[in-house]
Amino acid sequence: MSSVKARAYLGPEDLFAMQRIVQREWTTSNRWHIGDLAWQRPAMPDLRIALWDDAAWAWISAPARLEMQAPAELAGAVLTWFDEETGGGEQSVTIMDSDKAVIEELTAAGYHPVDGDFSRHCHRELDETLPAPVLPAGYQVRAVRPGELAARAAVHRAAWRPKRLGAMGVPPVDLGDGESGMTTARYADIIGHWPYRSDLDQVVEAPDGSLAGSALGWIDEVNRVALLEPVGVDPQHGRLGLGAAVSLACLHAMRAAGAELAVVCPRGDAGYPVPRRLYHAVGFHDAGRTVTYRRGQGSQS
Ligand SMILES: CC(C)(COP(=O)(O)OP(=O)(O)OC[C@H]1O[C@@H](n2cnc3c(N)ncnc32)[C@H](O)[C@@H]1OP(=O)(O)O)[C@@H](O)C(=O)NCCC(=O)NCCS
Repeated sequence: MSSVKARAYLGPEDLFAMQRIVQREWTTSNRWHIGDLAWQRPAMPDLRIALWDDAAWAWISAPARLEMQAPAELAGAVLTWFDEETGGGEQSVTIMDSDKAVIEELTAAGYHPVDGDFSRHCHRELDETLPAPVLPAGYQVRAVRPGELAARAAVHRAAWRPKRLGAMGVPPVDLGDGESGMTTARYADIIGHWPYRSDLDQVVEAPDGSLAGSALGWIDEVNRVALLEPVGVDPQHGRLGLGAAVSLACLHAMRAAGAELAVVCPRGDAGYPVPRRLYHAVGFHDAGRTVTYRRGQGSQS
C-alpha cells in the first residue's frame, strides 16, 4: 500500500498537475485526455477533487459518483478516500472496461457492474484518408476569430438546448425549456486554460454571417493524440452535413498541428445514438468503452 496521501484540489495549478498525470500515463485505452480536463475546468470548483502528489487524482460529482486516474497501486487508496468523503450509501465508479486492476479492487470492495449509459471511445487515424469537408452553398467553415467569444458560446447553447437533447434520446424524453449552462464567461474560462488553441476551435458560418455549428479540438503534443470535444450544430441548420463538415475541418486542423490519432467519446448505448453515427460517418471506429460499477442502497445490476 502506498504511503502517498491525498490532498484537496486547490485551483488551476492543480488542474495542470492532473493534466500532467494524464499526459504521462496516456495510452490508447486511457479514459482521459488532457483536453477533457480543460473542457470540464469550469465545473471543478463544485467538485470534491483530490490529488495523490503527481501520481493520481479523483473527483466526486453528485450523487457519489467517482471519476479517477490512478495507477493500480493507488486504486485502493482512491476508493478509501471515496468512502471517507461519501460515508456509504449508493456509490458509483466509472472506469474503462480495460482497467482490470481497478475492477479487481472494486469487485473485492463489493461493487458490481451495472447496465446503462456508457461512453464509447472511438478512434480515427489522421492520415491521408481524411476527406475534405463538404458544405452546402453559402456556408463556410473556419477557425473562431478573436472577438467572437459571445457568438461562440451562443452557438454552443443553441446546439445543446436541453429540449433538443431530450428529443434526440431513444426513447425521447422531455428535458424542459431550459438553456444549456454555457455562458460567455464560462467559455472564457475554458479558453484560458492549457491546451486550448483557437486554430482547433472550428466554427461553421451560415450565409447570414451567424455561427451555425462548432467543433472543438484539443491536442496532446507529447502523445500526438487529439480529442474532439464537443461538436454541436444549431438545429435550425441540422441535417445539412454541417456536423460532419465541422468535425472534418477540426480533424484537419489537428493533423496540421501534429496529431496522428483523434479520439472522440460519444455515448455508446442505444439511448443517445446520433453522435456516434456522425463520428462513424467521418471515419472513426469503435475502440474502448467505459463501464460503471455500483454498490450500496438501491443499486441495480
Ligand atoms: C450531433 C450533431 C452535431 C449532428 O449535426 P448535423 O449537422 O445535424 O449532422 P450531419 O447533417 O452532419 O449528419 C452527419 C451524419 O450523422 C448522422 N445523423 C445526424 N443527425 C442524425 C439524426 N437526427 N438521426 C440519425 N442520424 C443522424 C447521420 O449518419 C448523418 O449522415 P447522413 O445525413 O448522411 O445520414 C447535432 O445533432 C447536435 O448538435 N446535437 C446536439 C449536441 C450533441 O449531441 N453533440 C455530439 C456530442 S459531443
